[in-house]
Amino acid sequence: MGQQTSEIMILDEGQAPPGGITTPPRQEKWYDTFSYIGNPERFCAQNLAKYGPIFSTGVFGGKTIFVGASQANQMVFNGDSKYTEIALPDTTMEMFGEYSLFQRPELHRERKSALKPGLTGEILAGYLPRINQTIKDGLSQWTDAVKISLSPAVEKICFEVLVPLLLGVNLDDTNPQSFEGLPVSSSNQLKSLYKTYFDGFYGLSKWKSPLTAYGRGVKARAQLLEFMGAVIQRRRLSQEEINPKADFLSMMLVSQQQNPDGVFSDTLMENQCLLQLWASHYEVSALVSSLIYQLGKFPQILDKLRSEQAKVVGEVGNSYTFSSEELKQMVFLEAVIKETLRTNPPSSTASRRLTKSVVLDGVLYAKGCTIIAEPRLAHIMPEHFQQPEQFEPARFLPPRNEGRMYEFIPFGGGVHACLGVQMAMVITKIFANHVISLFDWQLTGEASFVQFPLKKIKNNYQISLQKI
Ligand code: HEM
Repeated sequence: MGQQTSEIMILDEGQAPPGGITTPPRQEKWYDTFSYIGNPERFCAQNLAKYGPIFSTGVFGGKTIFVGASQANQMVFNGDSKYTEIALPDTTMEMFGEYSLFQRPELHRERKSALKPGLTGEILAGYLPRINQTIKDGLSQWTDAVKISLSPAVEKICFEVLVPLLLGVNLDDTNPQSFEGLPVSSSNQLKSLYKTYFDGFYGLSKWKSPLTAYGRGVKARAQLLEFMGAVIQRRRLSQEEINPKADFLSMMLVSQQQNPDGVFSDTLMENQCLLQLWASHYEVSALVSSLIYQLGKFPQILDKLRSEQAKVVGEVGNSYTFSSEELKQMVFLEAVIKETLRTNPPSSTASRRLTKSVVLDGVLYAKGCTIIAEPRLAHIMPEHFQQPEQFEPARFLPPRNEGRMYEFIPFGGGVHACLGVQMAMVITKIFANHVISLFDWQLTGEASFVQFPLKKIKNNYQISLQKI
């Protein structure tokens, strides 16, 4: 007999679904992948209007069921090892590699809990003074600019914040010694390798050649791993005592010293440095840029943020360092960031393949199909968010309290939920606090966005700045 998990019925092999069951509407179309990649937001909105929040597609080949309704999202997120497995396209899986958290399900829990301390809690709180300082230094370069290209300017600062926090290295282009022993000689070279790696993730061609994005991405991945290996070697040779709280790599190195047969082999550490910098840099930069853009669109929200900042910390001088406690008190800021994530979720969640057929709310999700819980559906459903087309941060605050679990899903959910939520929120809050206390800015018209694989404002979009 099939087991019943709350209202989800998991069917045994060969077991017929109960009578009266339907399948998700809509026929797969040969061009679904192109329509989705071209504009995931439009693809989701149009199909939601026509078929409702659960429908079949042919995205990424085979049958892929898109879901946005809360119960169905819950089903997608909580199936690991019971009725789902992570199933990204083959090329994407190769780019992640076997040390990522998306591979080797039997090692997932052990690896994720070993990595967590370096990105959360006490160690994350210890990063705050450096996050503050690097953002202030980065923003001081904005001072004299009349216009800046928003995305590249934000990406530059986020990269400078994340590299030392994750890898424990301070790469200084004015000091060649900071690159000693490393196979790159400038931050730009490292950034450009990351860009090539990133572009290779969703290359449609599986041909490994310098002529394809995928082929170039695979090569960049190998070069980045060589870089991470050199960073680890340099640390070992430096003879300095390693402080496990200093950065993510130090946490892993000390764990390895304490338990040489544990999770942290050198290969795993190299891969995790590679992946966490990838996972964080593009997502956080996309979020911060969208936030600055939204604040330019809604000056009354910017004013409210400034009032909240003044209420929590008083007068902010140029050298102010925002603490964890202060950030926690800024509930309106948190709501504005959430509303930015709701309206511009940087990415989709990971797709899962059904290893068993399941029935939920009278719908059959057949074994072998891929399922994706889509923020671009869940976040625009009036059942989840009143007047979803409006930018209204207050929806996340009492008395409305919208954005419940499985309805607000920019970071996914279940055992694969994003490991960097806290870090992403902390960096974004600190960035927002400094930027609003240092600058006024105006938009230069509507921004266009790159839509896939990550939603981000196009590089050529500019804002005008004035120092306050
Ligand atoms: C705005 C920032 C970010 C967004 C929107 C974001 C979004 C996501 C999403 C949608 C997933 C897939 C979850 C699922 O399918 O259930 C994910 C997974 C993950 N993210 Fe993030 N992320 C962000 C920042 C970060 C940062 C800062 C880090 C680390 C430094 C990070 C590390 C990870 C890891 C390790 C996973 C895989 C977790 C697992 O498989 O167990 N992310 N993220």
